[in-house]
Amino acid sequence: MTGSGPVPADREGPPPDIDISVAHVARVYDYWLGGKTNFTPDQVAARAAMRAAPHVAEGVRGNRAFLARAVRYLVSQAGVRQFLDIGTGIPAADNTHEVAQAMARECRVVYVDNDPIVLSHARALLTSEPGGATAYLDQDLRNVAEIIQAAAGTLDFARPVAVMLIGILHCVPDEDDPAGIVERLMSAVPPGSYLAISHPASDINSPGVRRLASRLNELMPAKLRFRSRAEVARFFDGLELVEPGLVRAPEWRPDSDADLGNPAAVWAGVARKP
Ligand SMILES: C[S@@+](CC[C@H](N)C(=O)[O-])C[C@H]1O[C@@H](n2cnc3c(N)ncnc32)[C@H](O)[C@@H]1O
Repeated sequence: MTGSGPVPADREGPPPDIDISVAHVARVYDYWLGGKTNFTPDQVAARAAMRAAPHVAEGVRGNRAFLARAVRYLVSQAGVRQFLDIGTGIPAADNTHEVAQAMARECRVVYVDNDPIVLSHARALLTSEPGGATAYLDQDLRNVAEIIQAAAGTLDFARPVAVMLIGILHCVPDEDDPAGIVERLMSAVPPGSYLAISHPASDINSPGVRRLASRLNELMPAKLRFRSRAEVARFFDGLELVEPGLVRAPEWRPDSDADLGNPAAVWAGVARKP
């Protein structure tokens, strides 16, 4: 198992196929989380966003805390032992397999990301408790069939799987039909499976969030699409949201007042496939 705290780079400098001349969402997010896998354009974009919305880094930690609480809920209360975590990000504290396997060593986790820099850190994600398993797929969320086919090498799709889409769907523009992608993913998993989503909100603290989204979109070639609660709710169509439903991430089963006090402008929910 990897320890807590940011995981150091697997190699010196970025891999040769990585364009570090422009900011990228995974590395900007890494900067906000206090990681070291980010370069000048990422730092410029991250700081510009922090000027537009001063609580953004704290909010990102709130999103990460939701990820851990959702995984703990899925293992301890929903009995899930298999996770498909798409949009993994650069490894940080409390990666999905660490949280899941700390509760049930036999948990199996497949990570998916399309960023070569995340791939370069995959080794840190491929540690596993004995009896469990982790795997990493260098794939795009849009390629659902390919993801399911490759993930079947590690996950048993006849048994429930938790599909984790934590902080990724805002990277998918409307024209790429994110709702259709979610539907295809959830039709590949059996009843009793779960979907966990967190998604930056366009309708919480709207002025700051609008400034944040527009600053990031000025500075990053890959555009982000923040969405309203109603738009995020659509991703859960046909599924049963577990309590407390689709809420601001810090309000989803908080463990403490510190969780609850986090300013994350992020919608979050977990739902069961009936
Ligand atoms: C904001 S980070 C979130 C990381 C992590 N899930 C978390 O919440 O802490 C978004 C991640 O999604 C990845 N990503 C964005 N678009 C993607 C796509 N179309 N397919 C696969 N991964 C994608 C990025 O490379 C990045 O690592």
